[in-house]
Amino acid sequence: MTTLSKKVNLDFSVDNTLYASHGLHPFAAKCPPQLVRWAIEQFTQPCEIVFDPMAGSGTTLAEARMLGRSVLGMDLDPLSRLLSKVKSTPIEPKRLHAASARLLGKIDADYELLKKSNKRRSSSKLVERCRPPQINRLDYWFLPQVVTDLALIKYHILASKIAPEIRDFFLAAFSSLILARTSVANARDIVHSRHHYQKHEHPPDVRKRFHQRLRVMIQMMSDFWQRCKEVSTQNVKTCIVGNDARTIPLPAESVDLIFTSPPYCNALDYVRAHAFTVAWLQDFFQMSQAEYTLLGRQYIGTERAINSSDGLCELSHPEVHLVKELANVVGAIDPHKGVIMEKYFADMWQVFLEMGRVLKPGRHLVIVVCPSHIRKIEIPTHEVFHEMTKKMLIEKKYRLNQTDCIQRTINERRRLLPYMQEVFGRRMRTEYVIVFQKVANRR
Ligand SMILES: C[S@@+](CC[C@H](N)C(=O)[O-])C[C@H]1O[C@@H](n2cnc3c(N)ncnc32)[C@H](O)[C@@H]1O
Repeated sequence: MTTLSKKVNLDFSVDNTLYASHGLHPFAAKCPPQLVRWAIEQFTQPCEIVFDPMAGSGTTLAEARMLGRSVLGMDLDPLSRLLSKVKSTPIEPKRLHAASARLLGKIDADYELLKKSNKRRSSSKLVERCRPPQINRLDYWFLPQVVTDLALIKYHILASKIAPEIRDFFLAAFSSLILARTSVANARDIVHSRHHYQKHEHPPDVRKRFHQRLRVMIQMMSDFWQRCKEVSTQNVKTCIVGNDARTIPLPAESVDLIFTSPPYCNALDYVRAHAFTVAWLQDFFQMSQAEYTLLGRQYIGTERAINSSDGLCELSHPEVHLVKELANVVGAIDPHKGVIMEKYFADMWQVFLEMGRVLKPGRHLVIVVCPSHIRKIEIPTHEVFHEMTKKMLIEKKYRLNQTDCIQRTINERRRLLPYMQEVFGRRMRTEYVIVFQKVANRR
């Protein structure tokens, strides 16, 4: 392996990772933007195309826009697609200030009507605006006042005649009331997969929080907009091109750099973490709670990928020895988890093939991975990826040649989530930044 950057330090543990649009919305297992910046500067020129097929909250896309690159993103998760778009679409602050003043004015006017209607009967229009979506156990997870407030805010965001990028920005603000460390739901630690019930002693002031969130988020967006303005030419764009990274709807040889951090095998359950927000926005996402749960089986690395009732189905994975060995070891302890692990690598094989196809020859793929632990057995994901790509032939003429594998330490406070610490212990602190180059196959 030829190393490009033997002495490079990619730890960034003391850097601020929430500048510009990066702090717009919480998200589990975000990449530090400085790491993305390093790769983009190392491997691309201004105006080239950077692509992240598992974009998460959009860190790659946002950072690439601030460096004057065009960005393409995908994610299976509807909330991720929304956030990726919002975080990487610059909006002039004066447009946001004007639109938010109008929105907050309408919401405030309805609050006044609601206050009065405690004495008289509410108008049918107002009742309609406060109607919550169909959500399982809504009364358990949200206090009645919170339900009314959220419904009203959401109604006005969706009913207002505003540009789609501004509407999406408001929806991200709405979501950040629910998916937050201090959520308006009766729950804590909601960002990190498992919801722990915690009833609010007093109903949180949802309207006030929404005002505050918008104020802070507009400041963040101003910073992002300013940075983009300094570098961008008119041709630079953001585009969310699809959902499932196993079938990328892009032509062959069309992107200049891929930077991505795939899910860890068997670690985070994004569907459970995002369940409340997606349920509240089900009409916008056009996805019912049941449909979202079903989509949960498509996430790479998920526990839900194969039901125990499905039995051990035939998996189309390549003959990668390390996968076979690991599957045997894990499978001997827990057959179901053995299959989940095999499915993870079979899915990632498909994603690698697709990434290799859409990358231009000679260009780079940078992938950030962390070894995971299944039943206390370490799964060295970076080594499996190395072995997989050595065996892989792309469109019969190219290979992904690993040129570098840099170890970095995960900042404990920022990326090692409490839930993960419980499951994986201290070793989860190391992750690997692997660099591949698409080269002609000479074998
Ligand atoms: C570790 S997160 C990416 C975090 C991102 N780098 C960031 O900084 O926000 C992995 C993402 O992969 C997505 N994902 C899982 N299965 C997928 C699939 N089949 N196709 C596309 N995205 C998928 C998840 O929804 C999640 O958003």
